Amino acid sequence: MRKILVVDDESMNLISTKFILEGAGYEVITAESGQEGIDILKKDDIDLLLLDVEMPVMNGIKTLEMIREDEAISDVKVMFLTASTSKEDMSDAVRYGAKGFIKKPCLPDELLKSVKKILVERDKALVLVVDDEPMNHMMMKMVFEETYRVNCVSSGAEAIDFVKNSVPDLIILDINMPEMDGKETFENIKNVEGCADIPTVFITAEDDEDTELELFKLGAMEFIRKPFIPEIMKERIRRILELKKLQDFLNDEVNRKTSDLVESNNKVKRLFDQLVSALSGSIDAKDSYTNGHSNRVAEYSKEIAIRMGKNEEEVRNIYNIAMLHDVGKIGISNDIINKPGKLDDEEYEIIKSHTVMGWKILSEISEFPELAIGAHWHHERYDGKGYPDGLAGEDIPEIARIVCIADCYDAMSSNRSYRDALPQAVVREEIVKGMGSQFDPVIAQHMLDMIDADTNYDMREK
Ligand SMILES: [Fe+2]
Repeated sequence: MRKILVVDDESMNLISTKFILEGAGYEVITAESGQEGIDILKKDDIDLLLLDVEMPVMNGIKTLEMIREDEAISDVKVMFLTASTSKEDMSDAVRYGAKGFIKKPCLPDELLKSVKKILVERDKALVLVVDDEPMNHMMMKMVFEETYRVNCVSSGAEAIDFVKNSVPDLIILDINMPEMDGKETFENIKNVEGCADIPTVFITAEDDEDTELELFKLGAMEFIRKPFIPEIMKERIRRILELKKLQDFLNDEVNRKTSDLVESNNKVKRLFDQLVSALSGSIDAKDSYTNGHSNRVAEYSKEIAIRMGKNEEEVRNIYNIAMLHDVGKIGISNDIINKPGKLDDEEYEIIKSHTVMGWKILSEISEFPELAIGAHWHHERYDGKGYPDGLAGEDIPEIARIVCIADCYDAMSSNRSYRDALPQAVVREEIVKGMGSQFDPVIAQHMLDMIDADTNYDMREK
């Protein structure tokens, strides 16, 4: 919604103008003095300022003069809405770049027509003409001013200053200028933030072919040779601006779609993490001896993966795989899982089946086939004496070898009904003993490094 600031010392005028403009769909802010108006301009993005002339303390002309002197707000569009008919005021208003002068009282239609005209003007594409010849400024204005907003500057330095404050939609640039020529100006403008892709059309003489080729390579959009035919030039500029509009639109669309996709992708990831967490929580809840086991195994596996140099995605996957390594216990009866004494052979065989059962459950998740690997083979041993398949060495998937050592480490560093967590030195010794027999020695070394870094023995069930 377009925002209009109305400055008038008479509150009745403010009320009636606000009423008319709001009725036409504009957002209206009011101020009762020039200074208050300037303060609002500095804080708010105002599309048009409607200014009274006769006001106490600081009149409208003085207010406009101050606005034009303040770089931060100097380019605001201003129209006077006043009872003053002084020719001097009118000429001052024009001198300070006012866009119109409406006499109060005015009919609502008259006000709205003038406001609309100025705001449409603001929608026109901005063309910057850089040329050291004042005659060319006049000519460009004659050709383009009806269709575009045209700003003319006389040197490369002025052009660079201009684009730092407002980015034009197109630049028409003379190649032959003293001090900084068109090529140097073009290169300098490209280095200004946000100005690398402004379409630039060069005005060139008949014999500048080598320069043309060089400038094309640097990214020039088009060349117009002197003397130019206004109608053809107009058509070329129109096409370039249309193309730019289309490109901007496509860029915006691609950015919008990309951010939508990223957001929905993140949403799916969050949902997946939450499901994994809920499921692993339900496994741990079933087993009264292993409070928080899945979480800790996942944390240790993640740290090992990081130390092994896995990338962010791989680390995240290993974490989730480890979270669900015991998911098969869901299918084992609570009596066996929570049996306080020693398991008999038959019960032990049933417990061992949690690996295959976990694999079957997780294999159903076809979008993430690796998820089943940890559950399936985390009880395999490096020497081939583990279960369920007796795989050995590198035949055991790496993910399962990681989860295996994290799982065993947590079993030793957790409290059991019959014992507290083992002392850290004992746990370390067991890992050393298992290197090459129970554990992959390379992965076990990462575990040992983690133990050695954990001087307070924080990595255990609390
Ligand atoms: Fe297990």
